[in-house]
Amino acid sequence: MKLKPSASITAMQRVTELKAKGRRIYDFCVGEPDFSTPGNIVDAAIAALRAGDTHYTGSAGILSLRKAISNKLLRDSGVTYDPSEIVVASGAKLLIYELFSATLEAGDEVIVPAPFWVSYPDIVALNGGVPVVVPCGPETGFKLTPASLEAAITEKTRWVIFNSPSNPTGAIYSHQEWSSLIEVLLAHPQVSVLTDEIYEHVIYDGAKNVTPVAVDPRLRERCVIVNGMSKAYAMTGWRLGFAAGPRHVIQAVVKLLGQSTTCACSFAQTAAIEALEGSQEPIADMLESYKKRRTQIVDGLNRIEGISCAMPQGAFYAFPDVRRLLGSQTQDDSVISTDADLVSYLLEEASAAIMGGASYGSPGFLRLSFATSETTISEGIEAIAQAVAKLRLPGTNIEGA
Ligand SMILES: Cc1ncc(COP(=O)(O)O)c(C=O)c1O
Repeated sequence: MKLKPSASITAMQRVTELKAKGRRIYDFCVGEPDFSTPGNIVDAAIAALRAGDTHYTGSAGILSLRKAISNKLLRDSGVTYDPSEIVVASGAKLLIYELFSATLEAGDEVIVPAPFWVSYPDIVALNGGVPVVVPCGPETGFKLTPASLEAAITEKTRWVIFNSPSNPTGAIYSHQEWSSLIEVLLAHPQVSVLTDEIYEHVIYDGAKNVTPVAVDPRLRERCVIVNGMSKAYAMTGWRLGFAAGPRHVIQAVVKLLGQSTTCACSFAQTAAIEALEGSQEPIADMLESYKKRRTQIVDGLNRIEGISCAMPQGAFYAFPDVRRLLGSQTQDDSVISTDADLVSYLLEEASAAIMGGASYGSPGFLRLSFATSETTISEGIEAIAQAVAKLRLPGTNIEGA
């Protein structure tokens, strides 16, 4: 299989190159909190290092962390998992990879609702599976409906991936929406559910993350919850994720980890206990900042003729619809035919680095991360507005009409 490099990692490299050449770039590609890891977590890691916590751990992760995760799942989601049904690894991404490696046979289908996190289809394909992309447009809030789920399921469907809150749209499945999707899933016992809840704590307007097993425990035997420390605790570089699910599935993943990475970083695991059990204030502080930036970026984008952006309910990305700009012409008469053309134009003309929606399975949209400073947002959006104003929109001869 020909593996595509991760679109977000490629974009990050391009921005780094341009910055290294001295160019001021408004970077909206960032897929991680711009905050440093909270001090109490850093202190816990340093203390662990000093105490000699520098050795291999068991492949499932240390028991005290798995107990902390078990408590966290009960506290935050109302679901009960024994530590033997929990595995810790070097990131949620690795866990998704190992989960598919452990369970997919060649030709098995995995339903991937689009817009999707860029890595899902490639991880499925790398493990011999067939990603079945189901488009979910703005008319359904970028969410899978019972009808679209039912229509996508075949005899060969092995998994459905849900990501709520979603990267890139911020969409969240409500209790009611889960209930109706679960009705469909219960009629198809061959289908398992992967629920990627990595943005669980990055959530606005009093919304609450709902995990499907809490909605209907009948799903427990075929649902795996994936989560991690990266986004909630600004711990992306620590590489720590966790998964909870049926014991036989989790133990198969543990076996694979034992023959691949051995274990996640020992002192990072110890520090993760502090993250989960210590003060949760830092999450609230980060959320306050994201909330302000969310309004700032969405309002700014909606003021630009030709762009329309819904308010995301979670995560830290704006996902504006730019379809009205497609077909427009630049000053040198080149045509902006795709979101990728628009991304290139905005990088050149506005020094704004943005991800195109096609990478997420949704052409005609852009993804702008607001895990960046308010200054970058205000100056960057202004630069984008000026660049868009120079375009001749389709059907007009007037700039910015
Ligand atoms: C939806 C989603 N899942 C998983 C991950 C990976 O998380 P981790 O850093 O734990 O590997 C990301 C990171 O961007 C993500 O956006």
